[in-house]
Amino acid sequence: MADSPRDLVAKARRAAESAYAPYSRFRVGAVVVADDGSWFQGVNVENAAYGSTVCAEASAIAAAATAGVRKIDTVAVGCLDVAECYPCGNCRQLMREFGVERVLVQDEVNGVREHTLAELLPHSFGPESLGSSG
Ligand code: THU
Repeated sequence: MADSPRDLVAKARRAAESAYAPYSRFRVGAVVVADDGSWFQGVNVENAAYGSTVCAEASAIAAAATAGVRKIDTVAVGCLDVAECYPCGNCRQLMREFGVERVLVQDEVNGVREHTLAELLPHSFGPESLGSSG
């Protein structure tokens, strides 16, 4: 049986324990569920050159893409150091590329907020926007 939204966010939150965040001390974890039900985890990986930091969502999406996934159904985000963590703008755009439909965000420790990607990234630019030049 598929994991519930609450289970997925709990999994993302557990993944955050492996975050490499020595600079911000803001640990984030993400779980990506592909359209075939397979799932992948990611954490934020920081860098002394701060701009080279990779967000948890981006590393989970990269893990999924590495396994051949091209359509993602859900991304769940959990964090350890604050009550909630919404995906940054760049990660919303990365989600757009793989057709993410649903984004689950931790709300306090046990609650979950559920959004469509269209809510989080309205009037978005995606692969189809390139038309025939893509
Ligand atoms: N971060 C994520 O991993 N995901 C988000 O959605 C927001 C921010 C990370 C990046 C950086 O390592 C730390 O959180 C503080 O910005």
